[in-house]
Amino acid sequence: MTIETKIAGLHTRIAGDGPPVVWIHGFPLSSRIFDGQLSIPARHILPDLPGFGASPAGEGVVTIDDYTAAVLQILDAAGVHQAVVAGISMGGYIALALARTAMERLCGLVLIDTRETADTPEAKAKRYVTADEVRQGGTAGVVESMFPKMLTQKTRTSDPENSERLRRIMESASPEGVIAASGAMAERKSSEELLPSIEVPTLVVVGAEDAITPPSDAERMRAAIPGAELAIIENAAHLSNFERPAEFNEIMQRFLDRTEPRR
Ligand code: MLT
Repeated sequence: MTIETKIAGLHTRIAGDGPPVVWIHGFPLSSRIFDGQLSIPARHILPDLPGFGASPAGEGVVTIDDYTAAVLQILDAAGVHQAVVAGISMGGYIALALARTAMERLCGLVLIDTRETADTPEAKAKRYVTADEVRQGGTAGVVESMFPKMLTQKTRTSDPENSERLRRIMESASPEGVIAASGAMAERKSSEELLPSIEVPTLVVVGAEDAITPPSDAERMRAAIPGAELAIIENAAHLSNFERPAEFNEIMQRFLDRTEPRR
Protein backbone atom coordinates (compact mmCIF):
# COMPACT_ATOMS: atom_id res chain seq x y z
CA MET A 1 0.00 0.00 0.00
CA THR A 2 1.25 3.46 -0.84
CA ILE A 3 0.32 6.38 1.39
CA GLU A 4 0.42 9.74 -0.35
CA THR A 5 0.77 12.55 2.12
CA LYS A 6 1.99 16.10 2.46
CA ILE A 7 4.65 16.67 5.10
CA ALA A 8 6.58 19.93 5.49
CA GLY A 9 4.58 21.09 2.45
CA LEU A 10 6.09 18.31 0.34
CA HIS A 11 4.24 15.56 -1.47
CA THR A 12 5.63 12.34 -0.02
CA ARG A 13 4.90 8.71 -0.81
CA ILE A 14 5.41 6.05 1.83
CA ALA A 15 5.28 2.45 0.62
CA GLY A 16 6.23 -1.06 1.71
CA ASP A 17 7.44 -2.70 4.89
CA GLY A 18 10.94 -3.27 6.15
CA PRO A 19 13.91 -1.10 7.05
CA PRO A 20 13.13 2.57 6.39
CA VAL A 21 14.85 4.02 3.34
CA VAL A 22 14.42 7.65 2.38
CA TRP A 23 15.14 8.25 -1.29
CA ILE A 24 16.17 11.78 -2.28
CA HIS A 25 15.95 12.59 -5.96
CA GLY A 26 18.21 14.67 -8.18
CA PHE A 27 17.80 17.63 -10.52
CA PRO A 28 15.53 18.32 -12.40
CA LEU A 29 13.72 15.14 -11.41
CA SER A 30 11.20 13.80 -8.90
CA SER A 31 10.78 10.82 -6.61
CA ARG A 32 9.36 8.92 -9.61
CA ILE A 33 12.91 8.06 -10.64
CA PHE A 34 12.93 5.62 -7.73
CA ASP A 35 9.80 3.71 -8.78
CA GLY A 36 12.05 0.86 -9.97
CA GLN A 37 13.31 0.46 -6.40
CA LEU A 38 9.85 -0.10 -4.83
CA SER A 39 10.21 -3.87 -5.25
CA ILE A 40 13.03 -3.89 -2.66
CA PRO A 41 11.56 -5.04 0.68
CA ALA A 42 11.80 -1.79 2.65
CA ARG A 43 9.68 1.03 3.99
CA HIS A 44 10.26 3.47 1.17
CA ILE A 45 9.89 7.17 1.94
CA LEU A 46 9.83 9.21 -1.26
CA PRO A 47 9.55 12.97 -1.01
CA ASP A 48 9.28 15.28 -4.01
CA LEU A 49 11.49 18.28 -3.31
CA PRO A 50 9.86 21.74 -3.58
CA GLY A 51 8.81 22.55 -7.13
CA PHE A 52 9.48 19.01 -8.37
CA GLY A 53 7.05 16.15 -9.00
CA ALA A 54 3.82 16.79 -7.11
CA SER A 55 5.28 19.26 -4.59
CA PRO A 56 4.52 22.96 -4.84
CA ALA A 57 7.48 25.31 -5.16
CA GLY A 58 8.66 27.05 -2.02
CA GLU A 59 9.27 30.76 -1.72
CA GLY A 60 12.47 32.76 -1.80
CA VAL A 61 16.03 31.55 -1.65
CA VAL A 62 16.44 27.87 -0.83
CA THR A 63 19.53 26.13 0.51
CA ILE A 64 20.58 22.49 0.66
CA ASP A 65 20.10 22.80 4.43
CA ASP A 66 16.44 23.79 3.85
CA TYR A 67 15.90 20.59 1.86
CA THR A 68 17.67 18.68 4.64
CA ALA A 69 15.40 20.20 7.30
CA ALA A 70 12.35 19.18 5.26
CA VAL A 71 13.59 15.57 5.00
CA LEU A 72 14.10 15.47 8.78
CA GLN A 73 10.54 16.77 9.29
CA ILE A 74 9.30 14.00 7.00
CA LEU A 75 11.18 11.35 9.03
CA ASP A 76 9.72 12.81 12.24
CA ALA A 77 6.19 12.82 10.85
CA ALA A 78 6.60 9.24 9.61
CA GLY A 79 7.76 8.20 13.08
CA VAL A 80 11.15 7.10 11.76
CA HIS A 81 14.04 7.64 14.15
CA GLN A 82 16.73 6.20 11.87
CA ALA A 83 16.73 5.50 8.18
CA VAL A 84 19.02 4.52 5.38
CA VAL A 85 19.38 7.77 3.46
CA ALA A 86 19.86 7.26 -0.28
CA GLY A 87 20.41 10.29 -2.48
CA ILE A 88 21.18 10.59 -6.15
CA SER A 89 23.24 13.50 -7.46
CA MET A 90 21.60 16.63 -5.93
CA GLY A 91 19.89 14.18 -3.57
CA GLY A 92 23.39 13.00 -2.64
CA TYR A 93 24.34 16.58 -1.72
CA ILE A 94 21.30 16.56 0.58
CA ALA A 95 22.15 13.11 1.98
CA LEU A 96 25.66 14.33 2.81
CA ALA A 97 24.20 17.44 4.48
CA LEU A 98 21.99 15.12 6.55
CA ALA A 99 25.07 13.16 7.58
CA ARG A 100 26.74 16.43 8.56
CA THR A 101 23.85 17.84 10.59
CA ALA A 102 22.00 14.76 11.88
CA MET A 103 24.26 11.68 11.69
CA GLU A 104 22.25 10.14 14.57
CA ARG A 105 19.22 9.87 12.24
CA LEU A 106 21.11 7.68 9.74
CA CYS A 107 21.73 3.95 9.95
CA GLY A 108 23.16 3.83 6.45
CA LEU A 109 24.13 6.16 3.64
CA VAL A 110 23.82 5.48 -0.08
CA LEU A 111 25.50 7.96 -2.40
CA ILE A 112 24.36 7.45 -5.98
CA ASP A 113 25.98 9.25 -8.92
CA THR A 114 26.99 12.21 -6.79
CA ARG A 115 30.03 13.98 -5.41
CA GLU A 116 31.21 15.53 -2.14
CA THR A 117 32.91 18.63 -3.54
CA ALA A 118 31.33 22.09 -3.83
CA ASP A 119 30.95 23.76 -7.22
CA THR A 120 34.00 25.31 -8.86
CA PRO A 121 33.58 29.07 -9.46
CA GLU A 122 32.82 28.32 -13.14
CA ALA A 123 30.20 25.69 -12.31
CA LYS A 124 28.62 28.03 -9.77
CA ALA A 125 28.43 30.90 -12.28
CA LYS A 126 26.87 28.52 -14.83
CA ARG A 127 24.09 27.63 -12.35
CA TYR A 128 23.07 31.29 -12.16
CA VAL A 129 23.13 31.61 -15.96
CA THR A 130 20.87 28.53 -16.10
CA ALA A 131 18.53 30.05 -13.50
CA ASP A 132 18.28 33.25 -15.58
CA GLU A 133 17.57 31.24 -18.73
CA VAL A 134 14.80 29.38 -16.92
CA ARG A 135 13.35 32.68 -15.65
CA GLN A 136 13.21 33.94 -19.23
CA GLY A 137 12.41 30.85 -21.25
CA GLY A 138 11.20 28.09 -18.92
CA THR A 139 12.78 24.72 -18.24
CA ALA A 140 12.98 23.33 -21.82
CA GLY A 141 16.66 24.29 -22.21
CA VAL A 142 17.66 22.54 -18.98
CA VAL A 143 15.77 19.40 -19.99
CA GLU A 144 17.35 19.39 -23.46
CA SER A 145 20.89 19.81 -22.15
CA MET A 146 20.59 17.31 -19.30
CA PHE A 147 18.46 14.57 -20.83
CA PRO A 148 21.23 13.05 -23.03
CA LYS A 149 23.50 12.75 -19.99
CA MET A 150 21.01 10.90 -17.81
CA LEU A 151 20.93 7.59 -19.72
CA THR A 152 23.42 5.96 -22.07
CA GLN A 153 22.88 6.46 -25.78
CA LYS A 154 22.29 2.71 -26.03
CA THR A 155 19.40 2.79 -23.55
CA ARG A 156 17.90 5.89 -25.15
CA THR A 157 17.77 3.97 -28.43
CA SER A 158 16.83 0.52 -27.15
CA ASP A 159 14.30 1.58 -24.48
CA PRO A 160 12.38 4.55 -25.87
CA GLU A 161 9.46 3.98 -23.50
CA ASN A 162 11.51 4.38 -20.32
CA SER A 163 13.49 7.21 -21.87
CA GLU A 164 10.26 9.07 -22.61
CA ARG A 165 9.08 8.41 -19.06
CA LEU A 166 12.28 10.07 -17.83
CA ARG A 167 11.80 13.02 -20.16
CA ARG A 168 8.27 13.52 -18.81
CA ILE A 169 9.58 13.43 -15.23
CA MET A 170 12.13 16.11 -16.16
CA GLU A 171 9.49 18.20 -17.96
CA SER A 172 7.27 18.12 -14.87
CA ALA A 173 9.81 20.19 -12.90
CA SER A 174 8.52 23.72 -12.34
CA PRO A 175 10.62 26.76 -13.30
CA GLU A 176 10.51 27.93 -9.66
CA GLY A 177 11.78 24.57 -8.42
CA VAL A 178 14.60 24.52 -10.99
CA ILE A 179 15.66 28.11 -10.23
CA ALA A 180 15.65 27.47 -6.47
CA ALA A 181 17.56 24.18 -6.78
CA SER A 182 20.15 25.78 -9.08
CA GLY A 183 20.87 28.39 -6.39
CA ALA A 184 20.88 25.78 -3.62
CA MET A 185 23.41 23.63 -5.50
CA ALA A 186 25.56 26.64 -6.42
CA GLU A 187 25.85 27.68 -2.78
CA ARG A 188 26.26 24.21 -1.29
CA LYS A 189 29.11 23.54 1.11
CA SER A 190 31.85 21.06 0.37
CA SER A 191 31.46 17.76 2.23
CA GLU A 192 35.12 16.82 1.76
CA GLU A 193 35.98 17.29 5.44
CA LEU A 194 32.91 15.35 6.51
CA LEU A 195 33.74 12.12 4.67
CA PRO A 196 36.38 10.67 7.08
CA SER A 197 33.97 11.20 10.00
CA ILE A 198 31.02 9.32 8.48
CA GLU A 199 30.29 6.59 10.97
CA VAL A 200 27.49 4.69 9.27
CA PRO A 201 27.78 1.91 6.68
CA THR A 202 28.08 3.65 3.32
CA LEU A 203 27.50 2.42 -0.20
CA VAL A 204 28.67 4.49 -3.17
CA VAL A 205 27.06 3.61 -6.51
CA VAL A 206 27.90 5.04 -9.91
CA GLY A 207 27.12 4.34 -13.53
CA ALA A 208 30.28 3.38 -15.43
CA GLU A 209 29.31 5.91 -18.11
CA ASP A 210 28.26 8.75 -15.81
CA ALA A 211 29.74 11.91 -17.35
CA ILE A 212 28.26 14.34 -14.76
CA THR A 213 29.63 12.62 -11.63
CA PRO A 214 32.05 10.06 -13.06
CA PRO A 215 33.40 6.91 -11.39
CA SER A 216 36.53 8.88 -10.36
CA ASP A 217 34.30 11.00 -8.04
CA ALA A 218 32.75 7.85 -6.60
CA GLU A 219 36.14 6.22 -6.06
CA ARG A 220 37.40 9.35 -4.27
CA MET A 221 34.40 9.25 -1.90
CA ARG A 222 34.84 5.53 -1.27
CA ALA A 223 38.49 6.05 -0.37
CA ALA A 224 37.67 8.88 2.06
CA ILE A 225 34.72 7.27 3.91
CA PRO A 226 35.77 4.63 6.47
CA GLY A 227 34.66 1.16 5.35
CA ALA A 228 32.66 2.46 2.39
CA GLU A 229 31.90 0.12 -0.47
CA LEU A 230 31.81 1.09 -4.15
CA ALA A 231 29.64 -0.44 -6.86
CA ILE A 232 30.11 0.55 -10.48
CA ILE A 233 27.17 -0.36 -12.70
CA GLU A 234 28.08 -1.13 -16.29
CA ASN A 235 25.99 0.24 -19.16
CA ALA A 236 24.60 3.03 -17.00
CA ALA A 237 25.07 6.79 -17.14
CA HIS A 238 24.00 9.41 -14.53
CA LEU A 239 20.79 7.70 -13.34
CA SER A 240 22.21 4.26 -12.61
CA ASN A 241 19.26 3.14 -10.44
CA PHE A 242 16.75 4.15 -13.12
CA GLU A 243 18.70 2.77 -16.06
CA ARG A 244 19.75 -0.56 -14.49
CA PRO A 245 17.17 -1.24 -11.75
CA ALA A 246 17.84 -5.00 -11.50
CA GLU A 247 21.59 -4.53 -10.95
CA PHE A 248 21.05 -1.56 -8.65
CA ASN A 249 18.41 -3.33 -6.56
CA GLU A 250 20.62 -6.37 -6.03
CA ILE A 251 23.45 -4.16 -4.77
CA MET A 252 21.06 -2.20 -2.57
CA GLN A 253 19.46 -5.36 -1.17
CA ARG A 254 22.87 -6.74 -0.17
CA PHE A 255 23.66 -3.43 1.51
CA LEU A 256 20.34 -3.39 3.41
CA ASP A 257 20.95 -6.96 4.59
CA ARG A 258 24.10 -5.70 6.31
CA THR A 259 22.62 -2.51 7.75
CA GLU A 260 21.25 -2.53 11.28
CA PRO A 261 19.54 0.17 13.32
CA ARG A 262 22.09 1.96 15.53
CA ARG A 263 21.46 3.13 19.07
C1 MLT B 1 21.53 16.07 -10.58
O1 MLT B 1 21.37 15.10 -11.31
O2 MLT B 1 20.93 16.20 -9.51
C2 MLT B 1 22.46 17.16 -11.08
O3 MLT B 1 23.17 16.73 -12.18
C3 MLT B 1 23.39 17.60 -10.00
C4 MLT B 1 24.25 18.74 -10.42
O4 MLT B 1 23.93 19.44 -11.39
O5 MLT B 1 25.25 19.00 -9.73
